[in-house]
Amino acid sequence: MTKKLYIKTYGCQMNVYDSERMAEALGGEGYEQTATPDDADMILLNTCHIREKAAEKIYSELGRFKGLKAEKPDLKIGVAGCVAQAEGEEIVRRQPMVDLVVGPQSYHRLPEMNRKLAEGQRALDTDFPEEDKFNHLAKRPKAKRGPTAFLTVQEGCDKFCAFCVVPYTRGAEVSRPAARVLDEARDLVERGVREITLLGQNVNAYNGHDGGLAGLIWDLDKVDGLERIRFTTSHPNDMDDALIEAHGTCEKLMPYLHLPVQSGSDRILKAMNRKHTRDAYFVLIEKLRDARPDLLLSGDFIVGFPGETDADFEDTMDLVRTVGYGQSYSFKYSARPGTPAAEKDPVAAEVANDRLYRLQALLSDQQRAAQDAMVGREVRVLFEKPGRQDGQMVGKSEYLHAVHVTSDAVQVGDIAQVRIAESSTNSLAGEFISVDA
Ligand code: 5AD
Ligand code: SF4
Repeated sequence: MTKKLYIKTYGCQMNVYDSERMAEALGGEGYEQTATPDDADMILLNTCHIREKAAEKIYSELGRFKGLKAEKPDLKIGVAGCVAQAEGEEIVRRQPMVDLVVGPQSYHRLPEMNRKLAEGQRALDTDFPEEDKFNHLAKRPKAKRGPTAFLTVQEGCDKFCAFCVVPYTRGAEVSRPAARVLDEARDLVERGVREITLLGQNVNAYNGHDGGLAGLIWDLDKVDGLERIRFTTSHPNDMDDALIEAHGTCEKLMPYLHLPVQSGSDRILKAMNRKHTRDAYFVLIEKLRDARPDLLLSGDFIVGFPGETDADFEDTMDLVRTVGYGQSYSFKYSARPGTPAAEKDPVAAEVANDRLYRLQALLSDQQRAAQDAMVGREVRVLFEKPGRQDGQMVGKSEYLHAVHVTSDAVQVGDIAQVRIAESSTNSLAGEFISVDA
């Protein structure tokens, strides 16, 4: 008898990928996915530990399932992902109704954990096992899928930025061998995927190919039917010349780069243990724009890091004005247990709030300006799904802008030439020109 699995995913794109793989691992145990928790036999929360808010949300979410569990005692409730890794047994202490805790490196063991659950036991695994989880996971089912997919090529981080839990929750940097990545990419393409986003916490430190990430990208470039390649997230120090050059020469590599800098102040970059200066970042951006002048840059920023003065914050504002971002994510510093920065005195909350407000206003102006600048231009859009209005299709341009057109001539999976007619808050309206052969 098939059982129903409800997975809720929080946090980064790697969690989206991991959730797919967990669903596959449990698929072999007779589970199929359902869109609501109400009819589920198992609820799995794939969690994020990056900021306190994200981690605490999990406990309130679990609280909400209490009623369901009371009605259906056989319902299994599991916590996966980075909160599972970081808090382990603490989760069960705080929420005794939790049956399963599985860290991001152990989810290939879900089938055996599920058997333990069936015997009425609790299952907990937050090891960093020697075996490669990717080799143990069931091959992806051959079913058709949408035109875009994530593919994890690297995991973990050795950078140890002073604020960040990732080196602890995801462990040391590990790269998957290029041959395996290529196999998975070909498999995805056979199933209808035309765009692959290579994922890694430090993706550009990828070393599963002699030529690094650039080498892998050039191999993927040769895969027939794969039309677009993206990668995320990169650290400035791992942006080597071959990768910079690929942005200018590899047609399948899209002109969008997420390159977090976190702060524009040398003093704070040092305190954050980012291991690069503001000037080194400027030099890098210049090289990238020399290689690909229309590159759209995206960034991550933290305000209110311990010790950040008004002058440091102004340096961040100045860096943002100098670089110009088409997309960005900005956060108020959140002290995370076990990280070096958590020992330091925090910046007053109202000061941090005010800085975040000012930075976000600047970043959203830049984002809007970059989007508005597309009006009148021709872009190529990979269509992903029907839009909200009749006859509408939505997809992404090379620059990752959401674009919608109203035309009978385009179908999901098409790459079409589109002229941008209008820019609204979070998307662009386009006019269909032609579909690629
Ligand atoms: N507080 C606030 N933001 C953080 N990030 C990582 N750790 C923290 C923290 N402790 C942000 C960084 C990173 C993004 C994924 O999350 O900007 O690039
Ligand atoms: Fe965290 Fe820094 Fe590693 Fe990014 S590079 S995952 S911010 S430690």
